[in-house]
Amino acid sequence: MRGRKIVVGVSGSIAAYKACELVSKLRQQDADVRVVMTRSATEFVGTATLRALSGRNVACEMFDVCPDEQIEHVSLAEFGEVMIVAPATANVIGKVAAGVCDDLLTTTISAAACPVIFAPAMNWRMWENPITQANVKRLQALGYVFVEPEEGWLACGESKAGRLASTDKLLTAIEKALGIGDSKLAGKQVMVTAGPTREWVDPVRFISNPSSGKMGYALAEEAARRGAKVTLISGPTALPAPAGAELVNAETAEQMAEAVQQHLPGTDVFVGAAAVADWRPVQQADAKLKKSQGAPELKLEATPDIIAQVSASAQRPAVVVGFAAETDDLEKNARQKLDDKALDIIVANDLSAPGAGFGSDTNAVTIFDRDGNSKQIDTTTKRKIAAEVLDSIEQLLGTH
Ligand code: PMT
Repeated sequence: MRGRKIVVGVSGSIAAYKACELVSKLRQQDADVRVVMTRSATEFVGTATLRALSGRNVACEMFDVCPDEQIEHVSLAEFGEVMIVAPATANVIGKVAAGVCDDLLTTTISAAACPVIFAPAMNWRMWENPITQANVKRLQALGYVFVEPEEGWLACGESKAGRLASTDKLLTAIEKALGIGDSKLAGKQVMVTAGPTREWVDPVRFISNPSSGKMGYALAEEAARRGAKVTLISGPTALPAPAGAELVNAETAEQMAEAVQQHLPGTDVFVGAAAVADWRPVQQADAKLKKSQGAPELKLEATPDIIAQVSASAQRPAVVVGFAAETDDLEKNARQKLDDKALDIIVANDLSAPGAGFGSDTNAVTIFDRDGNSKQIDTTTKRKIAAEVLDSIEQLLGTH
């Protein structure tokens, strides 16, 4: 669950106190949890309790301004990779089934693009009421997931079905919605390099390239989402650390090569998305070169070829994936790199395609593998490209 983004909705039932245990268990697994409560839920549990347990402000009111100045229900809906409403009252289930959005919780559910799980808890007659049952069926038919209430002692003094399902069952439903355990990458160690390197000429000038790191960070985040243990070795970028990945910073090609070697033992999959400078100045001036001395003649030497080292290593990961950014002869140049560096997959960026390559949020690539297969992906988000690349990696892992 490390870094996974989970929204927990709490509605007004005596079982609201059990949301505290759920939030606590999620946090113990390093999930990033945000809680949204209905006003009646706050009659059963204080916001201070859930704020302390989640480590974040608890959202209750429609017109609260959230810290990033976004509209609260939209920001919560965009934040979540999964949303669970536990406990879900007959009232909330009925409102969502009828398309009513009259508070922050129902509005957030309505705006959510992620899977939404309902864990009902109510008096047994309310649960058995045909209207409630029809609402549940309607929502299930629309793709909402229900964790059925359990039989047991209810607050009304009877022992019937209506108790909130156990916290373990709720956690299992969340894991299933997140796809944890389904992927061949679950539990694997994945290393990704991202961003540019800087090769210093003097203390104020360097050789580099326009890589933003977006492609590599998207790969690291998607691999973590699939349950991999991810180490991201990054050149200088302006990006925040991706959820669920261990971030290791490196500036020069030499430093990136050292960091990769240090973290290589045990790595199952290596993805080289970094735009590593191919050359560096043989000598780096200790003081700023003066313009008055005339243009310097730079003597360059090759930097270590990080991915070739990984591929030739005695500790070679099962799958080694390279990237190639090409302006011409895309297939020929990419296949050449696949062979020269003994890679399993190469992802060729077509720099001539609009919205592809350095800096943009989108990319257009062709994925070539060592068996001669290829797959072209037209311009789409780097997040989707990352998912396609990881699908190809999973296919190769399946053959090992
Ligand atoms: O960071 P973004 O702005 O999102 O842009 C993404 C990207 C264009 C940087 C990325 O998708 C990409 O294509 N990266 C590879 C850039 C490139 O052209 O690499 P290359 O052809 O020089 O190298 C081929 C492969 O060898 C790459 O996997 C590279 O990481 C690796 N390499 C290269 C040189 C070197 N000294 N060591 C290496 O490991």
